[in-house]
Amino acid sequence: MPASDHDMNWTGTTVLVTGGAGFIGSHLVEELVRAGARVTVLDDFTSGSRENLAAVADSITLRDTDIRQLDWAGYLTGNPAEVIFHLAANAYVPPSVEAPAFDYELNFATTFRLLEALRVLRWPGRMVFASSAAVYGNSVRIPISETDPTVPISPYGVGKLAAERYLAVFAELYGLNLASVRFFSAFGPRQRKQVVFDLLAKIDRDHRNLFIHGDGTQVRDFLYVGDAARSVMIVADNAPLRGEAYNVGAGREYTIDQLAKSLCEITGTSPAFEYSGTNRPGDPEKLVVDISRLESIGYRPLTDFDRGLANTVAWYASLTGATWQ
Ligand SMILES: NC(=O)c1ccc[n+]([C@@H]2O[C@H](COP(=O)([O-])OP(=O)(O)OC[C@H]3O[C@@H](n4cnc5c(N)ncnc54)[C@H](O)[C@@H]3O)[C@@H](O)[C@H]2O)c1
Repeated sequence: MPASDHDMNWTGTTVLVTGGAGFIGSHLVEELVRAGARVTVLDDFTSGSRENLAAVADSITLRDTDIRQLDWAGYLTGNPAEVIFHLAANAYVPPSVEAPAFDYELNFATTFRLLEALRVLRWPGRMVFASSAAVYGNSVRIPISETDPTVPISPYGVGKLAAERYLAVFAELYGLNLASVRFFSAFGPRQRKQVVFDLLAKIDRDHRNLFIHGDGTQVRDFLYVGDAARSVMIVADNAPLRGEAYNVGAGREYTIDQLAKSLCEITGTSPAFEYSGTNRPGDPEKLVVDISRLESIGYRPLTDFDRGLANTVAWYASLTGATWQ
């Protein structure tokens, strides 16, 4: 087993990335191309875009495909892949609450049909499935480890957990090489929602006042998207792939106040912070991740917090023309 991801060699490996035009997927595709893989992306551009893959457009095959409609066995027979990264999904909790049937069909039923095709084909390859920290629900233990209880509290979390369990059973019963990664909140260029983007947009709109939910002391793990992308390659390369799951986080703790201060420093702004005082419902005070299982197979975050934020600010400025003056 390689000691670190620097030893990974993907030259000539055929890789299929579903959802590869999305936020995490597009960074993963860039990493794969850099490592020499031959990459095909299936995406219907619901939330992803061709623009996200502009830097590697000439090096990959990009298919506009709604994976809910795909005959997986037929597709994989005609387009063999040695490794599949299955990221295409409804990636957020609120749409699953508003339209649970939609989330069930895309996140769970489609993943099941993919697994069923792998079973029928006796597929010898390796697959990593993008699951989520949402499988834990309101976890009571900190830091959260993979052996903690999984009690999801949203249709999104239930769908991800059910898919994970099918992966585990299919790996065990049919000898398929499968694993799940439980991403905690990632941030970085190309993400147009969540706390880092939201704070940046607020600073952009108003340099004098910055409204923060809660009291600023909430603790979070901030996973840089480039590290999220590398983590799944490390899992595909180094993990036993017996249906197990891996937490993916940065393994570092920062408060929302620290995040806001760093963003102000990088943008050269100094707004007065205003706090709502109370956390939003469902927002835990502390969300800390145990990533030792992932570390045991060679992962370590490469991008530190401030570098990740600086990259994100630079991307935001190129997107919006913000000058922070
Ligand atoms: N971003 C995070 O912090 C985070 C946290 C936990 C889990 N995840 C999981 O990681 C994966 C990637 O998330 P992301 O943040 O990059 O989200 P994203 O929305 O940017 O990416 C999802 C991609 O799937 C594509 N897609 C959606 N429906 C499709 C369909 N029917 N057919 C083909 N493609 C379709 C979208 O166009 C998009 O490119 C998802 O499975 C998500 O649930 C992400």
